[in-house]
Amino acid sequence: MSAAASWWQRGIIYQVYPRSFQDSNGDGVGDLAGIIARLDYLHGLNVDIIWLSPIYPSPMHDFGYDVADYCAIDPLFGSMSDFDRLLAEVHRRGMRLVLDLVPNHSSHRHPWFIASRSARDDPRRAWYIWRDPASGGGPPNNWLSHFGGPAWTFDEGSGQYYMHQFLPQQPELNYRHPEVLPAMLDCMRFWLDKGVDGFRVDVIGMLLKDPLFRDEPANPAWNGIREYQSLLHVHTANLPEVHGLIRQMRAFLDGWDDRLMIGELYLPNAELVRYYGNEDGAECHLPFNFQLIRAPWDAAVIRRVVDEYEALLPVHAWPNWVLGNHDQKRLATRVGLSQARVANMLLLTLRGTPTCYYGDEIGMLDVPLPLTLMQDPPALRQPEIAHLVGRDPQRTPMQWDASANAGFAAAGVRSWLPLAADCSTRNVASQAADPASPLGFFRAMTALRRAEPALASGFYQSLDADQPDVFAYLRGDRGSTLLVLLNFGAERRRPALPLSDAAADLLLSTAMTAPRRLSLAQLVLEPDEGMVLRLPAGSRVSRSVLSGG
Ligand code: NOJ
Repeated sequence: MSAAASWWQRGIIYQVYPRSFQDSNGDGVGDLAGIIARLDYLHGLNVDIIWLSPIYPSPMHDFGYDVADYCAIDPLFGSMSDFDRLLAEVHRRGMRLVLDLVPNHSSHRHPWFIASRSARDDPRRAWYIWRDPASGGGPPNNWLSHFGGPAWTFDEGSGQYYMHQFLPQQPELNYRHPEVLPAMLDCMRFWLDKGVDGFRVDVIGMLLKDPLFRDEPANPAWNGIREYQSLLHVHTANLPEVHGLIRQMRAFLDGWDDRLMIGELYLPNAELVRYYGNEDGAECHLPFNFQLIRAPWDAAVIRRVVDEYEALLPVHAWPNWVLGNHDQKRLATRVGLSQARVANMLLLTLRGTPTCYYGDEIGMLDVPLPLTLMQDPPALRQPEIAHLVGRDPQRTPMQWDASANAGFAAAGVRSWLPLAADCSTRNVASQAADPASPLGFFRAMTALRRAEPALASGFYQSLDADQPDVFAYLRGDRGSTLLVLLNFGAERRRPALPLSDAAADLLLSTAMTAPRRLSLAQLVLEPDEGMVLRLPAGSRVSRSVLSGG
C-alpha cells in the first residue's frame, strides 16, 4: 500500500451507538447534538472514521434497526439540520462519517410495508416476502427468527404470512422484485449526495433467500440453547446470487468519489473473503471481520486466525479487524480488564482497518441487568436465555465523568439504560488525567499507529516466539521494521525469537513503561503485557521479508 492509500485503509473506525453516547436535551437518550459536542474527544482519540448505528425515523422495536423512513432523521436524535451540522463538523476535523444502512428489512411502519400489507393486489405487495400458509395450516416453512420463534407472521387481513428473520416489526424486503433495489439505491443516493462517506450495510449476506422456500436442514451440532441455531441457514443467508446484488450496490456507490462500503458478515475466513468480490474487488471494500470477537482468546488460536486470513485475502483486498460492537459482549468483559490493553494493541497493530466500539477505550464493562430492566427484543422474547442473548449490557451510556449520570445526561434525567455501577471512577475524565490509564494507553497506541507507516500500511509476518501465550509478529515497510509481542496469559514469559538483532527500541508497552532500548535475548514480557519495538535498520528478518514480497 502506498502513502496515497485511501482514508478507509489508513483510518481507524470508531462505532458510536447514538442512543448511548451523549444526551443533549434531557430525554435520557443520546442525540446528534450530543455527538457533535463530543467530536473533539473523538478527534483526540486519533480515530478517523465515525460509524453511527441507525438514526432514521423508527418505532425503535429494534432500536433503530427497524427503519420507517430511510431518508430522514428520527426526532429522538434531532433534525436534518443537526445531521448536516454533524457531517460538516466531522469533515471540518478531517474525519469521516459512515452511516448504517439497513436494506434487508424495513419497519412494519414504513409506507412501503403499509402499502404491501394493505391488499394482495397492491403494487407494493411483492416488495416484501408473502406466502400462503402451509397446506395443513401454519407457517409456510420451518425458517426461524434470530430473535426466537418462526420467521413468519400471519396477517389476518390478507390471509398470508410475511417473512422476517428478526422481529415481526422488521418485515424483509424482496430483492427478487425488480423495483426494490432501485428504491433502496435511491435512499443511498440521498445520503451520498449529502456527502456521507459510506455505509455499514446491515446483514448484507441475508438480502436474498431461497426462491423455492425450502425448509432449512437441522443443525446436527446444536447445543439445545438458542432455537435459531437448531437449523443450518443455507436457504436464508449467503446464497450465491447475493453477490450479484452486492455488486450492484457497490457499482452504484462507486458513482460517487471515494466512498466506503462495509458489509456486516459473521463468517469464517474462507467464506468471508468472498465478499470482497472474486478477482475484481467489486463487492465490499471491507467485509467486517469478526474473528477477534468470535475466536477463543488464546495466542495460538489468534495467530492461526490472523495467518489464515492474511493467506486467504484476494490480492486486491484490504484486511480489517473488529474488536467490539453493539451486538457483542464488551471487550473487557470478554477478555478481562487486564487483557483488554493487549487486545487493543493487537487490533491497532494488525494489518488492516481497525474498528473499535465506544467505551472500550476506557475499559467499560457489560452492565448486568435483571430481566425487568432489559429492553432488547431477543431477551424479552426468550426470557429463559435473556442473559445470553440480551444486548442491553453492552449498550449502556458512555461514562464521561464523575458527575450525575456520568456526564451522559444532565443530573436528574433518567437515562434510557442504567449506568454502570463503576461509572464515577471508570470514566473519561478520571482516565484523561492519568497517562497510564486505559485511555492514556489507547491514545498512545492510536498515535503510534498514525505515526508509523509500518503499522498503518506495512507488511505483516508472524514469528515463532517459542513460548506459550505469546503472539509475536513483524510489521514493516521500507523505512522501518516493528516487532509486536503480546502476552495473552498471566505468567511472565521470555520469548525466544528468530531474530539476529541484539537489541530493539521499545516504543510502547501496555504497561506504559518508558521507551528504552531492550536486549532481545533477555526480553521479558510481564503478565498481560504487550510491546511494540523497533528493530535496528537492516534487521535480517525484515530484509528477507521485504525481498520476498
Ligand atoms: C444486525 C445489527 O447489528 C443488530 O443490532 C440488529 O438487531 C440486526 N442486524 C437486525 O437489523
